[in-house]
Amino acid sequence: MSLIDSRTASTDAPILDVLAERWSTRIFDPNVAVDEAALASALEAARWAPSASNTQPWRFVVARRGTAQHTAIVDALMGFNQGWAASAAALVVFAHVSELDGKPLPWAAYDTGQAAAHFTVQAHAEGLHTHQMGGFDRAAIAAAFDFGDGLAAVTVMAVGALGDIDAASDTLRERELAPRTRRPIAESLVADA
Ligand SMILES: Cc1cc2nc3c(=O)[nH]c(=O)nc-3n(C[C@H](O)[C@H](O)[C@H](O)COP(=O)(O)O)c2cc1C
Repeated sequence: MSLIDSRTASTDAPILDVLAERWSTRIFDPNVAVDEAALASALEAARWAPSASNTQPWRFVVARRGTAQHTAIVDALMGFNQGWAASAAALVVFAHVSELDGKPLPWAAYDTGQAAAHFTVQAHAEGLHTHQMGGFDRAAIAAAFDFGDGLAAVTVMAVGALGDIDAASDTLRERELAPRTRRPIAESLVADA
């Protein structure tokens, strides 16, 4: 069985292949540059995400491996994330503004999460792999990209081609091959009238 087959979700109801086959790899190919057309499509999918009153509060930092910006993001990642995510061909910071024309945007983080979700689905459909991270130093990202008070980083997404699992460390390989699980949908349903 291939790695991709072994990562595919075992679902209780049919879902789109791209959703079942998306997983958060930690094994990126350090030698392959990001597929620019695929990246552009993933960003376009994020752009077309819904948002409250179409306020589009998301803002993105896109940094390709080999740039000072990529290094700055890697430096801001926490411990374990730093080890594997440095290999990703691109790192994308998903940030948001919190107000527009002086009015608060209560759904800004939610909207930005939807943009990130759209990004991941389009990216996987295009053959890119993604892995979101909450484990990073927000202040370091804000300082590196002059966010000021107006922008807050939510996640950093590693993006790139899948690497060679056989060349990965034992720890990474073990995590990569751990079963993908979800609790049953019944446990998430507060009501189902
Ligand atoms: C907001 C968010 C933050 C996350 N932070 C981290 C992280 O800091 N490090 C990490 O290795 N994985 C992180 N993950 C990945 C999750 O652990 C992963 O999505 C989850 O275990 C489900 O696995 P799957 O995406 O392969 O289905 C994060 C995911 C999300 C959505």
